[in-house]
Amino acid sequence: MKYRMGIVAICIMGVSVSSIYGEPTHNEAEQRSPSSKIIKILLGSTRQGRRSEKIGKAVYEIVKKNQKAHVEILDLREWALPWFDDANPPFQREGPSADPVVRKWSEMIEKTDALIILVPDYNQGYSAVLKNAIDLLFREWSGKRIALVGYGDAGNGGEHAAAQLREVLRALSASLVADQLLIPIVYQALDQEGKFINKEYEPILEKMMEQLIV
Ligand SMILES: Cc1cc2nc3c(=O)[nH]c(=O)nc-3n(C[C@H](O)[C@H](O)[C@H](O)COP(=O)(O)O)c2cc1C
Repeated sequence: MKYRMGIVAICIMGVSVSSIYGEPTHNEAEQRSPSSKIIKILLGSTRQGRRSEKIGKAVYEIVKKNQKAHVEILDLREWALPWFDDANPPFQREGPSADPVVRKWSEMIEKTDALIILVPDYNQGYSAVLKNAIDLLFREWSGKRIALVGYGDAGNGGEHAAAQLREVLRALSASLVADQLLIPIVYQALDQEGKFINKEYEPILEKMMEQLIV
């Protein structure tokens, strides 16, 4: 949130990341087949030292293998979204938001076919930055295909946080896929190469991708 970087393509940990406004880089646009579904992995945390970056990369390495999808990481830290303080809720908005960043956020979510949201467990709920990013929009979420990956330090893998987010997304008429991945004790989830130690995660993520691409 602290960075307002302008439209640049950046690389975090070797992952090709969308620019601040989610515009594909030239290379990404070239690589993308016109029939590919655009899937974004939304990192649900922005704090210093967050694990969402590493978990996001591990998820990316698996789901990018799906030939029917073009997968990108969507990092809220690169967006400088305002905290929601409009006088009226977005469902009453007539036309685009007056805020240019929110307009870009809206356009980016509109043109994304489906999302995998990484949901950190913060006090048995999900993060405030994620809620804010959701609340800034309304109609854009309707019918959007979404899969959740919950994670936390405790043994339940962000189950409560993911359940709460499901409730909110249902209220927004998003189309949640049946499966979700919950990662318990997240600080032990990755090996030295940044891959998931638990090999059962891969088939779950592959199945999720099939559910996202319909
Ligand atoms: C404010 C805060 C509250 C947390 N509460 C819980 C919790 O209730 N249950 C849990 O399993 N982990 C909890 N954790 C641990 C986080 O889920 C864990 O640190 C995770 O990596 C956070 O995601 P992030 O690293 O992407 O920010 C909490 C962490 C923070 C920062």
